[in-house]
Amino acid sequence: VYSEVHPFTLSASALAARQPICVILSGGPHSVNAPGAPDVDPDILAMDLPILGICYGQQLLAARLGGRVVPCVAHEYGRAQARPAAALAGVGARLLRGFAAAEPFEVWMSHGDHIAALPPDFVTIAATPSTPFAAIAHRSRPIVGLQFHPEVAHTPRGQELLEAFVLEVAGAKPQWTMANFLQEAVATLQAQVPAPAQVICALSGGVDSAVVAALLGRAIGPRLHCIFVDNGLLRRGERDQVDKIFAKALNLPLTIVDAQDTFVAALAGVTCPEKKRKAIGKLFIDVFEAEAKKIAGAQFLAQGTLYPDVIESVSLTGAHAVTIKSHHNVGGLPERMHLKLVEPLRDLFKDEVRALGEELGLPHALCYRQPFPGPGLAVRIVGEVTAAQLTIARHADAIVEECIRAAGWTTQLWQSFAVLLPVRSVGVMGDARTFEQTVALRCVHSSDGMTADWARLPHDLLATISGRVLGEVRGVGRVVYDISSKPPATIEWE
Ligand code: XMP
Repeated sequence: VYSEVHPFTLSASALAARQPICVILSGGPHSVNAPGAPDVDPDILAMDLPILGICYGQQLLAARLGGRVVPCVAHEYGRAQARPAAALAGVGARLLRGFAAAEPFEVWMSHGDHIAALPPDFVTIAATPSTPFAAIAHRSRPIVGLQFHPEVAHTPRGQELLEAFVLEVAGAKPQWTMANFLQEAVATLQAQVPAPAQVICALSGGVDSAVVAALLGRAIGPRLHCIFVDNGLLRRGERDQVDKIFAKALNLPLTIVDAQDTFVAALAGVTCPEKKRKAIGKLFIDVFEAEAKKIAGAQFLAQGTLYPDVIESVSLTGAHAVTIKSHHNVGGLPERMHLKLVEPLRDLFKDEVRALGEELGLPHALCYRQPFPGPGLAVRIVGEVTAAQLTIARHADAIVEECIRAAGWTTQLWQSFAVLLPVRSVGVMGDARTFEQTVALRCVHSSDGMTADWARLPHDLLATISGRVLGEVRGVGRVVYDISSKPPATIEWE
């Protein structure tokens, strides 16, 4: 089902103009009773739309519709067993279809306030031992609320509840399929880029730019020009893979620019992570621009902007975010070259992009590839990036990828890679003393890269990786495992 995320400041009239089928009020860290807490335009609650409130959203519904919300004795955090009410009718029954009264279901709680008194015409439809209003429903209007979090993996049947709200309570039709999207996107692109306009697209080797290219290839064929810059900071086999898929399998015009020496030369003596990132970003634009200028009639630049990028650019406070890392992108190009942007993935989340890629016939392994940063191996080599360091980092990374794949962990992890550290330690090989560098293994779980936790890999798998890296990669004398979560660490080391 197609959905959009909007800030709480959205007015009822702006909402109505979008003709929504239903509304979900999300959770949040505030208390509805605190001054200045996020609120909802009261006219939205009067619109007669189906509404689901989750956690803070449920408390907001209760407070604004005439109930009472108070602080819990202690913040409730963790698993709980919710039991559906014995006799369910109307909206509540539709939400909890498939849940039997006698069978408690596991839910995840995280809240500091709770409802103390229901608003008029609301009933409890599920309770836990500590939260009497774990799930509530209006007697006649399609308004429901959940104190727990159906959206997290720790609520095993949460997805079922969200589906029941959207399909059963709100009556939406599940038509937002990638097959439908593909059809519409092709038509939209053909209208947006009429012949004889030409489009250029920077391929990164990752899934987003690959899907953009395949989609445009479907829509405008030979008027699309893909450029892949081999900056020498790529993973093993990456350039050949891109060549095989685009030029050979998809039959799309592809220019591969070999700029390895230029990039490595520009990085000589640079050890500061920000300086590395800036140097790479600037060079990329220079190389790309020079190449793009050779394409006559190029008026558009295609980019793999995704929906999270669109949401995150909405500022509620007007405050500027602090720069943690300068992300590499081609953002400077459209202005410099007077190009118009084409962003066909703006409405999609990563999982949808992957599904669309498969719909377009891209290989499964490419669609489910782990993210790889634009500055590549350069931010995975702490200290100076040289051709010799790149050889070591690339070799270690290839071994990590091979072992993780063989153990079936690739798709369970957000990312898994090797970081080369300029820390030398003493070892012994044969009868000789060694004094070599260190490889840090970084394997994390994450849903969006914004937060992450280190993966609890089986010890046997760690042993295999360590054994192979130490045995096969010349110049590495020690392997360590990075057990830092984000925050406070970041995923990449630079
Ligand atoms: P950090 O290291 O900030 O990374 O925790 C979060 C996610 O972003 C990826 N990353 C990048 N992706 N250009 C990109 O396209 C970049 O410059 C860049 N830097 C980090 C990183 O791999 C992780 O998935």
